[in-house]
Amino acid sequence: MSGSETPVELVTHPGAELDDELASPRPQEPGERGSYLVQTWGCQMNVHDSERMAGLLQSIGFREASSENDADLILLNTCTVRENAADKLRGRLGQLRELKRQRPHVILGVCGCLAQQERDGLFADAPHLDLVLGPRAIPQLPKHVRSLLEKREQLSDTAPWTSTVGEGSELALRKSFPKAYLTVQEGCDKFCTFCVVPFTRGREKCRPLQVLLSEVEAVAGRGFREVELLGQNVNCYQDGEGNDFADLILACAEVEGIERVRFVTSHPRHFGDRIVEAMGHPNIADALHLPVQSGSDRVLSAMRREYRREDYLDRISALRRVCPDIALWTDLIVGFPGETEEDFAETLSLVEEVGYEALYAFKYSPRPFTRASKQLEDNVPEEVKSERLSRLFALQDRLSTPRDRARVGRIEEVLVDGTSKRSDRDLAGRTSRNRVVNFPGEPELIGQILPLRITEAKAHSFRGEIAGSPR
Ligand code: SAH
Ligand code: SF4
Ligand code: F3S
Repeated sequence: MSGSETPVELVTHPGAELDDELASPRPQEPGERGSYLVQTWGCQMNVHDSERMAGLLQSIGFREASSENDADLILLNTCTVRENAADKLRGRLGQLRELKRQRPHVILGVCGCLAQQERDGLFADAPHLDLVLGPRAIPQLPKHVRSLLEKREQLSDTAPWTSTVGEGSELALRKSFPKAYLTVQEGCDKFCTFCVVPFTRGREKCRPLQVLLSEVEAVAGRGFREVELLGQNVNCYQDGEGNDFADLILACAEVEGIERVRFVTSHPRHFGDRIVEAMGHPNIADALHLPVQSGSDRVLSAMRREYRREDYLDRISALRRVCPDIALWTDLIVGFPGETEEDFAETLSLVEEVGYEALYAFKYSPRPFTRASKQLEDNVPEEVKSERLSRLFALQDRLSTPRDRARVGRIEEVLVDGTSKRSDRDLAGRTSRNRVVNFPGEPELIGQILPLRITEAKAHSFRGEIAGSPR
């Protein structure tokens, strides 16, 4: 099912400032204008931005290319959160120089966070590039592509961050059936000292609750069973009409046909009691990604995270009172400037105390514009960062293996989302706790919720068998 969707009907929601042609579309034959390829790096918001760009391109007569060699338009949707992410992209741009030499008509664009970070500077490094498009300029993509088709002149649009967010999302070519991504908030005002995101995604901006609800209803009407609400600081959601994040998740959870609501990424400082209470709703998934970054108060303060270890642990206890079986994930940075062995020991002990399903842990990497990169020396040696990262993952393995094994024999409800990555004969789905279960079954089950008996715990997934009828 995934990848086989047809574009949705063209409807613009009130307030949308879509390009003229989209607002009153001229019928286009699919592929009349050629084919496109969008390659994506980075977070879920980038994945969804790529779905939005694909939808916008299809609405002006492009079709999806089967490969790079068949594409007339190639867009790289980029991430720059750590230096190695940005390096990979510079490498990829270099490779495309040869393709562009052989097929000069191809339009090559860089979108996403690297585009916003480097702006016109990207043209100097990559003269073969045609388009630089910042994340908030996505609705302008059709206009820019048409202009490039008429006149080949390098174009850059890193729209001001005052622009609204999410336009064109009703056109998104969603590829993650039966889960629909939905941007509810974009940008970040927190300015953690290590993080480039406020400089690439701009100031926080939210979409109105009513607009979001109509979109959730529309995807539910097309058979989606789950929505994942996206925002860099999603739980700070405020729609300006008195609705906050708790109102938003509860309203989404009540939409007919939607049986699971997830969201990412939450900031611990703003995870208040109303949100904790709302997590008890049966249609809000029993899983939360709550990045802590460090277990040491000294480091948290240098990162300007606005909470202490104790505040974070208090939120976890509150959550567990409401959802005793909740599955927790976190992000951690090792080797932040000045991080001592004692600071790191506090991170280890926090990981042990909370008991996460899994960790996303990274070596500190200085990023442009950030306070840490300007004022603090990146003084933890590379070997120490590597060694701390390995100790963290070793601890996580030691903690999660017995916990995962203890789930064998349980019956869990799984939303079936496709065929297994491990074997074409198996299906895969996710539990409410967001864990992958692979099991033998027929493809007709994709999109259904099904009870499965967990039969085995693997390193990062489970095996299961059908234990009842789908619903
Ligand atoms: N909005 C989210 C996450 C944004 S970036 C939050 O508030 O937590 C995703 C993760 O990348 C961060 O949680 C952090 O762990 C990591 N990260 C961000 N900047 C980094 C840097 N300069 N070096 C290493 N890791 C970084
Ligand atoms: Fe970055 Fe901090 Fe904003 Fe998250 S909250 S996006 S880590 S500045
Ligand atoms: Fe990367 Fe931008 Fe997301 S920097 S993590 S793609 S917000």
